[in-house]
Amino acid sequence: MRRSYATAPPAGNNGSSSNPLLWIGCISLGAAYTYYQKKRAEQIDEAEDPKQKKEDPKPKSESESKKNTQKEPINKPDDSKKTAPEKEINYQQVYNDIAELLDSNEDYDDGSYGPVLLRLAWHSSGTYNVKDGSGGSNGGTMRFKAEAEHAANNGLEVARDLLEKHIKPKYPELSYGDMYTLGGVVAIQELGGPNIKWRPGRRDQGDNKCTPDGRLPDGSKKADHVRDIFYRMGFNDREIVALTGGHALGRCHLDRSGYDGPWQEAPTFFSNEYYKAITSREWVKRDLPNGLWQWVDKANPEVMMLPIEITMLEDEKLKPYFELYAKDTAVFFEDFANAFKKLIELGVPFTGDEKEYVFERLNM
Ligand code: HEM
Repeated sequence: MRRSYATAPPAGNNGSSSNPLLWIGCISLGAAYTYYQKKRAEQIDEAEDPKQKKEDPKPKSESESKKNTQKEPINKPDDSKKTAPEKEINYQQVYNDIAELLDSNEDYDDGSYGPVLLRLAWHSSGTYNVKDGSGGSNGGTMRFKAEAEHAANNGLEVARDLLEKHIKPKYPELSYGDMYTLGGVVAIQELGGPNIKWRPGRRDQGDNKCTPDGRLPDGSKKADHVRDIFYRMGFNDREIVALTGGHALGRCHLDRSGYDGPWQEAPTFFSNEYYKAITSREWVKRDLPNGLWQWVDKANPEVMMLPIEITMLEDEKLKPYFELYAKDTAVFFEDFANAFKKLIELGVPFTGDEKEYVFERLNM
């Protein structure tokens, strides 16, 4: 079922801005976006075979989806030496095709595949180790069972299968790493975030390049753990806080991570609301049925923060960046765009000849 959250926070939430002009702006934006979403869903309905649509109106269940992911990969493990055929692919068209998918199933989560596509881009890149060059988006190795089954990747079969079904057959030369990272770029831009410069050049590699489990952050831990994880990739404190702003989008799912709920009330709209929420609301502990616990907003307990995020907010070196981004959207957008580009390019063997794209948005 589609959740009740729209694209803008409801009026009257104490933790958010009380400026009436801002609210009018937010509501108009929300209305415009909802109209756009509806229109886009109608277009996709028209474009798809109605019979097919009827038989498969929802995303596959997690177990069904997993089966698909576990199939032999399309690309054989020994194709790592092929050069990326970037000249043959119209990347703006790939961008457009992914953008068309975002709102294609209004029953999925909050009505957009954007958040889960962003998480796929991040998890396929965030395995990088700057010391030995292993991991990162280059090999597209999350398509293999060995990496897909890392606990942190629970639920990402939804995003992988979406791209596998609708994008890969149309662009067989597109590498998995390029496809996964481009999905994240589309999600950020189409849901209202900054432009992300993107270059092709990732090459598929075999399952021998899958990284060991444990390279992605664990939400139950503390700020020093976040530092270990992100310093290993080569990020600094400011970049760590900027990247965590990806939690402007999406939500936690009890059946994936064990946590539950979005970080603020507008999970399909990329903004600095995450920082406003974490710095201004009153957070109280809530036990979950699975033995985990999380923070919830006292005024709206549907909204949550992971244990690790509050320890980051309390860290004296990280806190100033949370406050900076809460106050200044432009600075957040600029820092996020730079850090995200760096993230999805970690370890990619660019030749230097690749064209750098700034994609035109479908959702203007
Ligand atoms: C401190 C580091 C981080 C931790 C501990 C963390 C943890 C989590 C957890 C536990 C979830 C819930 C997964 C689920 O149940 O579906 C999640 C979701 C998500 N994360 Fe992170 N994350 C971190 C950093 C990032 C970064 C750097 C990005 C992107 C730049 C990001 C983007 C997302 C998105 C978009 C979702 C929502 C996915 C959806 O709605 O399906 N996260 N994260």
